Amino acid sequence: MAMAANHLPPTAALSGGTATHRLIATARPSSISFRSLSSSASLKTIRLSHQKRSRIHVSGADFGTVATPKCFASDPEQLRSAKKDIVDLLKTTFCHPILVRLGWHDAGTYNKNIEEWPNRGGANGSLRFDVEQKHAANAGLVNALKLLQPIKDKYASVTYADLFQLASATAVEEAGGPKIPMKYGRVDVTGPEQCPEEGRLPDAGPPSPAAHLRDVFYRMGLSDKDIVALSGAHTLGRSRPERSGWGKPETKYTKEGPGAPGGQSWTVKWLRFDNSYFKDIKERRDEDLLVLPTDAALFEDPSFKVFAEKYAEDEKAFFDDYAVAHAKLSNLGSKFDPPEGFSINDEPPPPPAAAAPEKFEAAKYSSGKRELSDSMKQKIRAEYEGFGGSPDKPLQSNYFLNIMIVIAVLALLTSLLGS
Ligand code: HEM
Repeated sequence: MAMAANHLPPTAALSGGTATHRLIATARPSSISFRSLSSSASLKTIRLSHQKRSRIHVSGADFGTVATPKCFASDPEQLRSAKKDIVDLLKTTFCHPILVRLGWHDAGTYNKNIEEWPNRGGANGSLRFDVEQKHAANAGLVNALKLLQPIKDKYASVTYADLFQLASATAVEEAGGPKIPMKYGRVDVTGPEQCPEEGRLPDAGPPSPAAHLRDVFYRMGLSDKDIVALSGAHTLGRSRPERSGWGKPETKYTKEGPGAPGGQSWTVKWLRFDNSYFKDIKERRDEDLLVLPTDAALFEDPSFKVFAEKYAEDEKAFFDDYAVAHAKLSNLGSKFDPPEGFSINDEPPPPPAAAAPEKFEAAKYSSGKRELSDSMKQKIRAEYEGFGGSPDKPLQSNYFLNIMIVIAVLALLTSLLGS
């Protein structure tokens, strides 16, 4: 049943890069050019436009107000605008499910055992090429491409790889799902010869579904928890026999649309992202709802079942794990520029670790405290010594009293004699 752990390929490092980049500025008449020196001393030129200034966050770090680097793989400002356009597109076409599937199928070809980019596959925009769209697993995804192409045309400085992942994460969020901690800056492959070979995506009805899921998802470096959480994306959308061969031509839940009618959904409200996928499979509640063999495996395999049962009970646990797994999936195989990627979140990053409240020191707030001059200190000392004391050894209180009495008597006598 379950594939033994020692059948797994060895772990390989995921894509990423050095966090330390030194920037060397050289002034030019119309632009500022930054040569970025990575620790491996490879040189790269980042050209910064003079006009555009915006706030960017690189890998969670706030770089404050800096010129938008135009030669990052995608332009952060354009990504933000593209996100707004995707939200509008979703409102008018209800294409959430197919956008999620597009992002997943671009990323899901990743093979952690291949080091070189782009041979390793993954989220690199290769799915825009005909040759990959024609893979059997991608049937119908050309429709997602058609929907996104006008947005791509409008924002020339957004890569396909970023656009597919942006569209998918936005669709999940807009359908009521969790906010996904995405990063951007994915570099695109440049030609169809860089597309992965057919057969890297999972099959819905293999002889041994659980083992097959592990074969495919472990190859991507993902875990049992990721497999179950990500399968929960089937809370959205429908299967169409004319595309994948799975599902009914239509059901009571799909015959009216929205969007193009037909197909068989996994859930009743198939445009709402929630945990009903897990609830519905568990209850096998309705003949009209789809359960693929790979979906059923989530409640049959002992290790998958732990997560599936949990997600059926606890939507928050599902959302939390889904957000993490989706972000992981979206980064598979990607080459980022800058190497650490960047976030396009509007909200400012959290402040650094909260500083301890400052201790109140009254002396700090009193004003006018001055150090006595040396001559003044000597004068005081002389006066003390005149009374037989010293500033270091204050006089005893009765000395003071006696002196005060003597002074008072002298003053009285002087005034009496004077009058
Ligand atoms: C676990 C292995 C998986 C298998 C075997 C599988 C299989 C399928 C199949 C057969 C369809 C129907 C396609 C059609 O007829 O149009 C489908 C649709 C879909 N899949 Fe998966 N899938 C898997 C994992 C995933 C993952 C990981 C995601 C996202 C994170 C995902 C998201 C979707 C979505 C949203 C749809 C609906 C598309 C639409 O309505 O147009 N799937 N999947």
